[in-house]
Amino acid sequence: MDIISSSSDYEKIYRASIENPERFWDEVARDFVWHRPWDKVLKWDFHKPELAWFLGGKLNITENILDRHLPQRANQTALIWEPNQPSEAPRHITYAELKREVCRVGNLLRKNGIRKGDRVCIYMPMVPELVYAVLGCARIGAVHSVVFAGFSSGSLIDRINDCGCRLVLTADGAFRGDKKIELKSVVDDALMNCPTVEKVIVLERTGSKPAMKAGRDSWWHEEIWDMDDHCEPEIMDSEDLLFILYTSGSTGKPKGMVHTCGGYMVYTNYTFRTVFQYQEGQVFWCTADVGWITGHSYIIYGPLSAGATTLLFEGIPSYPDFGRFWQVIERHRVNLFYTAPTAIRSLEQAPLSFVERHDLSSLKVLGTVGEPINEEAWHWYDKNIGKGNCPIVDTWWQTETGGAMISPIAGVTVTKPSYATLPLPGVQPALMDDHGKEIKGAGEGRLALKFPWPSMSRTIYGNHKRFRETYFSTFPGMYFTGDGCRRDGEGYYRITGRVDDIIIVSGHNLGTAEIESAIDEHSSVCESAVVGFPHDIKGQGVYAFVICYNKPEEEDKLRAEIRDTVSKIIGPIAKPDKIQFVSGLPKTRSGKIMRRILRKVAEGESANLGDVTTLLDPGVVEEIKRGALH
Ligand code: WTA
Repeated sequence: MDIISSSSDYEKIYRASIENPERFWDEVARDFVWHRPWDKVLKWDFHKPELAWFLGGKLNITENILDRHLPQRANQTALIWEPNQPSEAPRHITYAELKREVCRVGNLLRKNGIRKGDRVCIYMPMVPELVYAVLGCARIGAVHSVVFAGFSSGSLIDRINDCGCRLVLTADGAFRGDKKIELKSVVDDALMNCPTVEKVIVLERTGSKPAMKAGRDSWWHEEIWDMDDHCEPEIMDSEDLLFILYTSGSTGKPKGMVHTCGGYMVYTNYTFRTVFQYQEGQVFWCTADVGWITGHSYIIYGPLSAGATTLLFEGIPSYPDFGRFWQVIERHRVNLFYTAPTAIRSLEQAPLSFVERHDLSSLKVLGTVGEPINEEAWHWYDKNIGKGNCPIVDTWWQTETGGAMISPIAGVTVTKPSYATLPLPGVQPALMDDHGKEIKGAGEGRLALKFPWPSMSRTIYGNHKRFRETYFSTFPGMYFTGDGCRRDGEGYYRITGRVDDIIIVSGHNLGTAEIESAIDEHSSVCESAVVGFPHDIKGQGVYAFVICYNKPEEEDKLRAEIRDTVSKIIGPIAKPDKIQFVSGLPKTRSGKIMRRILRKVAEGESANLGDVTTLLDPGVVEEIKRGALH
């Protein structure tokens, strides 16, 4: 199917995709290799909810990424790997090599007893073997569950146990800037509480020589060397599980979002080509971690299924200095660059000479994702990185949506700073008011989606009831995103941020409930409440109100201990930026914490807290206001 390449195309194709979504997606899906065509494009009911795309279709996604491309692309680079240390040589992996490596991992998994439908946890650094691991699972129909390597053992335990992983692929350690992280020891800690895991395969990356448990652990290089580089792909149903990826919820434990083979393949490929206007031969770099949905969809599945060259970066933007991103763009002649507003804001703080010393003339398109981008960062990005010549695609989407939903199409959509602009083909947004009524025309409300798209998450693993309650009960018959949104007179959308108890810190979703329960693990803490507050670089920071059993004697020491507790239980990304000790929390008579009040205090707006008379103890508010940290 032809890709949209002008604004009149957009209007025509968007309209057609809404008038007859089945016909539209049927046509897009024909671009792929299927072992058996689908009988029916879509079956859906948002009330149940029930969702299925390309019913009866049979495929293997890795054949669409690898085998399909080999005749033309065997020697084209599929993957460029840029290591953490600039002194280490980058690696270029061709499509032919990628296929061999993926097949070897597939065979390794099969040799270890992994079969279609088994869950495999991947807890690895950003190295090529991580890509082989993900695709190796997909090759044999195993369901991958990638866990971000910055999460600690508590998070790993939850994620492994929730879906009953049988095998863990990991590494001895990871390099991150000037730090070395011991991944295997985190896995060892976690596995004391994970009875379903039978095997652990460990890649050697840092040479940290971890303990190996006999019978359970083995080295990747010792196992892989004699694996055959041919591996029969498992033929999957469109609706068979491809992967599970956990995302924070506003209550309770993280949710294992389920994505399936057919729809996810079609949508990530289509949006990659459309949004970035990918041209044959271009180098695409998405700076996300594969541990998040952005890495799944736009480092691995979207670009590789399109036959692109995708760049995988192991390091961080500030190491060895603030010029690293720009140096990598120059070194690999990157054409399409996709990053997060938080990274832009942190690089904006550094002297411009870090940008100016690099040749960025290869760039054609810039993208952002993960959180709202403020106008100032948008202009800085446009002027200094794009030199005013590169369209910026501000892509709004979610782990649950699988791919970009509201986004400019590069060079086609007229952009507007901080606006995600218009819905992509097939996407039908609705703005809802406080009474659950749809707002027509310009306005502000909560963002819902009225019609399914192929890469929509099908359920929460093992908990369809939670799936229904979280996404389909707020506005019956619609999918509720959890985001606030404004629509202007031209129909452009601007995402204003979460309206639930999820905060987005440096582009990472964190549930306030999850952080609270980690804080409460500290033996001095009786109760806590967490809210977000505006943070110049991270977008939002974590502000914790904490009640202790006894008035703390050394507040700073206790703060450090609480941060450490959160870091150990969830991971360093969830550490509170501010901890205010309080003697009580503002609660309603029914015992519910009034977060609205805490949010205002954290935002430094305690002058207008609104009505506090319904509180159990209005006096506590005064104390909280007095002790606010700014
Ligand atoms: C937020 C990341 C504003 C939003 C792909 C969403 C954004 C959440 C944007 C999902 C954007 C993502 N502008 N906000 N361009 N993109 N968000 O699941 O609040 O990690 O609901 O998926 O990030 O985060 P997630």
